[in-house]
Amino acid sequence: MTESHPRITKAVIPAAGLGTRFLPATKATPKEMLPVVDKPAIQYVVEEAVSAGLDDVLMITGRNKRPLEDHFDRNYELESALQKKGDAGRLAKVQESSDLATMHYVRQGDPRGLGHAVLCAAPHVGQEPFAVLLGDDLIDPRDPLLKRMVEVQKQRGGSVIALMEVAPEQIHLYGCAAVAETEDSDVVRVSGLVEKPDLADAPSNYAIIGRYVLDPHIFGILRETEPGRGGEIQLTDALQQLSQTHTSAATAAGKAGGPVHGVVFKGRRYDTGDRGDYLRAIVRLACEREDLGPDFRAWLRSYVAEEM
Ligand code: G1P
Repeated sequence: MTESHPRITKAVIPAAGLGTRFLPATKATPKEMLPVVDKPAIQYVVEEAVSAGLDDVLMITGRNKRPLEDHFDRNYELESALQKKGDAGRLAKVQESSDLATMHYVRQGDPRGLGHAVLCAAPHVGQEPFAVLLGDDLIDPRDPLLKRMVEVQKQRGGSVIALMEVAPEQIHLYGCAAVAETEDSDVVRVSGLVEKPDLADAPSNYAIIGRYVLDPHIFGILRETEPGRGGEIQLTDALQQLSQTHTSAATAAGKAGGPVHGVVFKGRRYDTGDRGDYLRAIVRLACEREDLGPDFRAWLRSYVAEEM
């Protein structure tokens, strides 16, 4: 680690998507506010950023996303009602989300893809490395992926993405990385990236999962990135370029923004972007909760025995 590496403090969370897969629930409610057990999905993501040491959070939002801002703000009416009742437990729950982090919001305007959403963060982020967390991926708090990625970025510089091996027939759902091993068993060097390839074109079964620690040079590349898959400006395409333009001369001149490394994640990840996976995430997390788990597991066991 060189002294010149600044500490990473900023997290960017794109949250402008329409959530059409969850209609009608998401007609008037942002998909990020759907509860996973008893907390909105987005709160898990902000908590993850904070526990990796990133307490400056910028959300990229859009129209109909006001509830997100309200959730991470004070609610004096509710707080005073709970105070009057002497309900300290619930009061703490209400205050938890407003005390978590310093929150900032910027609207994306035109929904032109993930790369464009990240580009909206440029004025806030400035010249520092920063993290991007996608709300559809929940990483179990017991498997601290982002913390490890921040550590790898400090050691190796450049940008770091999270990768997970998936079944080959699933790879078309993800960005896919061509990788080479490094001396660290959980770190690979990324030599190429392709967004949602057909199985025949996939360079590996390493899928990008929604966590990134990015060098700010990504912004310059994103400004030049043409729309790609789905007619959208893809973050994967900009990262592909970052992985290619890295040369030792450019690095010496402080210009490259690369290399790109991947941290290979083997922990628990829950996908809340898909209805089936969302239900599975709720069941798994509820089973593991100390307060709800014992009763819920017992019920689930008998339910499954009756149904099967
Ligand atoms: C985005 C990225 C993709 C990545 C995925 C992870 O796709 O573009 O590279 O693999 O997130 O969840 P999305 O699922 O938003 O279409």
